[in-house]
Amino acid sequence: MALRSMDELRQQAQGAQSLNIAFIGVVNGLFSALHQLQQADTHRLAEQAGMDEGYVRRWCDAAYAFGWLELNAQDRWQLSEDGDSMRPEVPGSRMATAMGSVLSAHMAERAAGLMRTGERPGEQVLAERETILPWFGLMLENNFRKTFEEKICPAVPIFAEVDARGGLAVDLGCGNGWYLRALAARCGHLHGLGLDGFAENIRQATEKAQSEGVADRLHFNEGDIHQFSLPGPADLIAMNRALHHVWEDRGEIFQRLHASLKPEGAIVIWEPAWPDDHRVLREPPLRGMAFQNLTEHVQGNHFLHPEEIAAALSEAGLKPEIFPFGSDVVVVGRA
Ligand SMILES: C[S@@+](CC[C@H](N)C(=O)[O-])C[C@H]1O[C@@H](n2cnc3c(N)ncnc32)[C@H](O)[C@@H]1O
Repeated sequence: MALRSMDELRQQAQGAQSLNIAFIGVVNGLFSALHQLQQADTHRLAEQAGMDEGYVRRWCDAAYAFGWLELNAQDRWQLSEDGDSMRPEVPGSRMATAMGSVLSAHMAERAAGLMRTGERPGEQVLAERETILPWFGLMLENNFRKTFEEKICPAVPIFAEVDARGGLAVDLGCGNGWYLRALAARCGHLHGLGLDGFAENIRQATEKAQSEGVADRLHFNEGDIHQFSLPGPADLIAMNRALHHVWEDRGEIFQRLHASLKPEGAIVIWEPAWPDDHRVLREPPLRGMAFQNLTEHVQGNHFLHPEEIAAALSEAGLKPEIFPFGSDVVVVGRA
């Protein structure tokens, strides 16, 4: 790889700064408040968002500098098209890129310090930033729901089977419940049970199921993947980006999942696919995965090779099938 020019390095630094400014606007409701007002001076925007005017003044200058805001002929702030796309409530919102940028900076700083001792404090490191934590579920929904609906569902046969027969779908480590909400929207006969260890995720999942009109068929409970119990045998048990969190206990967990399935049911694992060859980590879609695997190390985890996941399902008596999706993989284990 050729030496990067200083211009290129500065451009990269500005890219991070730009997303960091957008992050502040997302988590403090500034983009949404300005959308409601259409146009506003700093005082009015601060009032609408319930934020300190001095900070909002400096934020507006920086958000204008990076193109998130425009100044109109009356010298009032308006959202640019980019700024509008950051509003968390719009379908297809691009807020996840801003969240990801600040989360990455936080995790990088923690990894830098922890590397000195080798300490791996666990998932609590993700929860250290009060401005990031409540947005985690929505960030993942924005990153992955579209891929699930448009690419994974049509290509992996178990989803059409479950659509046809309904039944019970379970999501272990469900985050804000987007996966079950997406499945319930496709299939009117499907009931769902989501479990997550983080109470705020369960609160958001329940609230969003209500607002999306699927709350009568979906239930979300706080709990531990190691100790879940189901109301009856399941047609589909999913773990999306959750298996690597409990990989050490995969043998016992997969045995229990197998015993919880209907004979025609399946376990569906979706994970980043850690490659065998380090050289492919240079490819742009895999760079983020390489960065995240360092932050997973902080949490006591690591990403998995698809073949390892398939082998663990086989060991639990399930028949695995691997479906690659770019830098991700879906592995289905049939009873
Ligand atoms: C990377 S997130 C993925 C969330 C969600 N499946 C998604 O795709 O958006 C991993 C999730 O697993 C949950 N989790 C990790 N270990 C868990 C455990 N032992 N019991 C319950 N939930 C757990 C975390 O709280 C987190 O929401």
